[in-house]
Amino acid sequence: MTFDTILLNKYNTFFTNCIVAGGLSDSIKTSFGPHGMDKMIQNEKGYLITNDGATILKSIKIDHPVAKILVNLSKTQDIEAGDGTTSVVLLGGKFLSNSVSLIKNGIKVMDISNSFKHSLKISKKIIAIMSMNINLNNKSFLKDIVHVALESKLVSTYSKSICPISVDSIISIMNNQDSHDVDIKNIRIIKKIGKNLSSIELINGIVTDYTFYKKFNGTIKLEYAKIAIIQFSISNLSTDLDNSIILRSYSSMDKLIREEKKHILSICNKIKSSGCNLIIIQKSIMKESISMEALEILSNMKILVIKDVERDEISYLSESLGCIPIVDIESISEKKLGIVRLVEEKFFEDGSLIFFKKISISYCLRNTILVRASNAVLLDEAERSLIDALSVMRSIIRRRYFIPGGGTVEIEISSCLNQFQKTLTGIDVMCVESFRRTIETIPYVLSENSGMEPIQIISKLKEFHKNGKKFYGIDARKNKIVNALDSRIISPLLVFTSMLNLSIEFAIQMFKIDEFLII
Ligand SMILES: Nc1ncnc2c1ncn2[C@@H]1O[C@H](COP(=O)(O)OP(=O)(O)O)[C@@H](O)[C@H]1O
Ligand SMILES: [Mg+2]
Repeated sequence: MTFDTILLNKYNTFFTNCIVAGGLSDSIKTSFGPHGMDKMIQNEKGYLITNDGATILKSIKIDHPVAKILVNLSKTQDIEAGDGTTSVVLLGGKFLSNSVSLIKNGIKVMDISNSFKHSLKISKKIIAIMSMNINLNNKSFLKDIVHVALESKLVSTYSKSICPISVDSIISIMNNQDSHDVDIKNIRIIKKIGKNLSSIELINGIVTDYTFYKKFNGTIKLEYAKIAIIQFSISNLSTDLDNSIILRSYSSMDKLIREEKKHILSICNKIKSSGCNLIIIQKSIMKESISMEALEILSNMKILVIKDVERDEISYLSESLGCIPIVDIESISEKKLGIVRLVEEKFFEDGSLIFFKKISISYCLRNTILVRASNAVLLDEAERSLIDALSVMRSIIRRRYFIPGGGTVEIEISSCLNQFQKTLTGIDVMCVESFRRTIETIPYVLSENSGMEPIQIISKLKEFHKNGKKFYGIDARKNKIVNALDSRIISPLLVFTSMLNLSIEFAIQMFKIDEFLII
């Protein structure tokens, strides 16, 4: 291989990576912001409608390694902050593709990396100046932040119902106001077809989609439930699949039946004497979890039964309800029962649910959100959006600051870097210029997708910022320039800083690749 060919290969690798990253960034930009378009994605499971960056990217088939890294970037942003998943790809791709002209001008990748790192440092200082503290007691503020995060979603028309529920559910699972993290897994989302999203409901308690064993129709409501979670089967001694009993006479058969009845009755009596009035039985692989005979006896004893519950659900219910699972009948005692002041059953078009409400707070820092929508596709998108809303709340809990949205911070960064540029000479000017242009992609695409003239809007915004109006940005709903704070277009600081860090890290990582080897 000649020196020229090696050089050409290196350039080709770099330019191909830039084209792929820029292409992916361009392909996702129509989904960005409140006027972002939705994508309908068909896969082997059916189809889904979404405009969530992470979901779109996860769903499409991508082969090129750089594109795969960008998709992972979006996933990381989703895990870190729960929002900003489109922005991170939009910016990451642009940081790389806008660098092509720098390389063509003979600037070394090392110099571009250093300049970007320096510009990031300055940007962080500007972000710190523009960020403001959040008081968790100010629920109206919290709702506004969640509202902005949901602006671009299909479900945004129901934002008024979803936002308060997202805020309340997170606040109610916090140990105390000072804790700096929450586990979203403590909020269960249950989806039921019927009505619409305005009927979304927060249940301060636990909901399961198992049903009561019943001999007759009608709803069950139990006040002051004493619940036993049972992990052994209440059935005949001889029903193991592998067992076989050979009976040689009628009298030995009668004896066996009598013994088995006695055995089941004795179990039921022990359950009754523990004070329990509701049992939840784990599904058994080898046997039926409970025999018809046992169900009959327990029903006469007025003990309710939820049977054949999967192992995962058993651990969820026992942790949530404060029950200690009972592995054999001899170990049952009142201490192992969970106390719930209200257990009730509700019917929906696609099945019933059991609600466990008024659980002692000492062991239940969990709650449930019941989502309603007219069809399964909408329900799934509502669930994804709800998880985003909860993640945005978690970002606020983790870092209690917010910043103005609608491109405000991006314009301020660009304006300040413009001042900084004036102190530089040579290649540094070009690198900072490229960084600024890339950062401006956010307000550019926001205004473009809203039908505004992006170049005009950005130059007007820069004028505002030059005159000290640094909280001015785009209101994409009203299609005008506004004070983002007054218009409550606000976002968690963590979403923005994570997005900016990840997108620049991506570009710098890509600069270092000079060859693509297939082994
Ligand atoms: N009403 C609004 N006016 C202007 N910008 C908005 C408005 N609501 C949200 N945004 C902006 O939209 C962007 C987020 O768009 P979105 O499609 O949710 O992308 P991401 O997946 O990156 O969160 C943020 O920059 C946010 O500031
Ligand atoms: Mg968003």
